[in-house]
Amino acid sequence: MSLLFFLFSLSLLSLSLSSHFGNTSYFIDCGGSTNTTDPFNTVWLSDRYFTGGAISAVSEPLHFRYPQEKNIRFFPLSSGKKNCYILPLPSGRYYFRTFTVYDNYNGKSHSPSFDASVEGTIVFSWRSPWPENLARDGAYSDLFAFVKDGEADVCFYSIATDSPVIGSLEVRQIDPLSYDSATIGDKFILVNYGRLSCGSSQWGPGFSNDTDDFGRTWQSDSEFRTPNTTKIIHSLSTGATITGTNQPPNFFPAKLYQTAVTGSGILEYELAVDAKLDYLLWFHFAEIDSRVKQKADRVFDVVVNEKNVKRVDVFEEAGSFAAYSWSYTVHNLSSTVLTVKFVPVVGAPIISGIENYALVPNDLSTAPEQGTCVILE
Ligand SMILES: *[C@@H]1O[C@H](CO)[C@@H](O)[C@H](O)[C@H]1NC(C)=O
Ligand SMILES: *[C@@H]1O[C@H](CO)[C@@H](O)[C@H](O)[C@H]1NC(C)=O
Ligand SMILES: *[C@@H]1O[C@H](CO)[C@@H](O)[C@H](O)[C@H]1NC(C)=O
Ligand SMILES: *[C@@H]1O[C@H](CO)[C@@H](O)[C@H](O)[C@H]1NC(C)=O
Ligand SMILES: *[C@@H]1O[C@H](CO)[C@@H](O)[C@H](O)[C@H]1NC(C)=O
Repeated sequence: MSLLFFLFSLSLLSLSLSSHFGNTSYFIDCGGSTNTTDPFNTVWLSDRYFTGGAISAVSEPLHFRYPQEKNIRFFPLSSGKKNCYILPLPSGRYYFRTFTVYDNYNGKSHSPSFDASVEGTIVFSWRSPWPENLARDGAYSDLFAFVKDGEADVCFYSIATDSPVIGSLEVRQIDPLSYDSATIGDKFILVNYGRLSCGSSQWGPGFSNDTDDFGRTWQSDSEFRTPNTTKIIHSLSTGATITGTNQPPNFFPAKLYQTAVTGSGILEYELAVDAKLDYLLWFHFAEIDSRVKQKADRVFDVVVNEKNVKRVDVFEEAGSFAAYSWSYTVHNLSSTVLTVKFVPVVGAPIISGIENYALVPNDLSTAPEQGTCVILE
């Protein structure tokens, strides 16, 4: 072993000891030629760590808010069928987020078909033609994955003669024990198919100054409610402190529990999914209505795809103004819609957040059908 390598390993070791799970991160402005700072004080690095490709500006730069969204890297066939970003980092668990946009950068009015993998597992499949708003505005997609070989590989595979594209790439280290990995194991990638904050608009890193230690952004739940949801919906919000937030290993932010929706009857949500995979659902609750003062004042059932999976009494579980979260795995879905219902037993249901992740086994050869895991602006 060379001295240089030994010093390198030592410095990685001291890095990982300096915080509970390490805070290695990369914010790469793919296609960008200078380092830039966005309005949230994140410094985006000029493009680097790629194996090939070329750069371009989007066709309507003024349509995009942030510098890192205005340039892309694309991989023409002359660069080969497979191209990657390879980031050196300590082995651990990471949050990956990509920004993907076409915006007719090449003037061909043909959004490309391509696949993208993380650590060798296909996680996103982009198929032409993209919905118009997706092609023009772009979309953020994210996931959690383990990296065990000291480098993160994010690779793009062209389909036919199409050139894959990438607008920005973000990687942040997270707690390896988060999202129940002790039970689920480290052989799955958790691909985001919906991360909803109920009763609020979209927030989180890249969208607002609100912090989330893992870099997660939270979408508004409003567009995911079905017409079956009771007409009378109340959004609750509080500035009060919520106890039990920002705790290891999941570090769910306090803001998530400071808003909620409730109503006078059923609350129902529909989430688009790809069939034949398992999905990890994570539910977030907090009793933030001070009129609920004791257990049994508010009780409701959680129903997933018409199966009653849990009776919830938030006050009994956590008291008031305290976070309570609970997770449930749906196996081998046969439909492309996941329905989640909150059905009243006593009083009205209350919900602060829902997360839905596809559990994609490492090296699964059949990819999810479509890159549905998108956050539109
Ligand atoms: C993590 O962040 C803290 C505070 O921002 C800093 O002091 C520390 O050096 C960082 N650790 C790593 C591993 O970068
Ligand atoms: C961007 O920042 C990185 C890391 O601080 C630095 O190494 C690099 O030289 C900078 N690049 C440019 C083009 O300024
Ligand atoms: C976010 O906070 C920073 C520092 O406090 C501030 O300079 C910036 O204007 C804020 N950005 C937005 C979009 O609110
Ligand atoms: C509404 O509920 C009914 C009965 O439970 C169900 O058959 C129907 O599919 C639901 N509609 C939607 C839009 O979810
Ligand atoms: C998943 O369900 C399909 C039918 O819907 C079945 O053919 C397949 O064997 C199931 N896979 C597993 C792993 O249970």
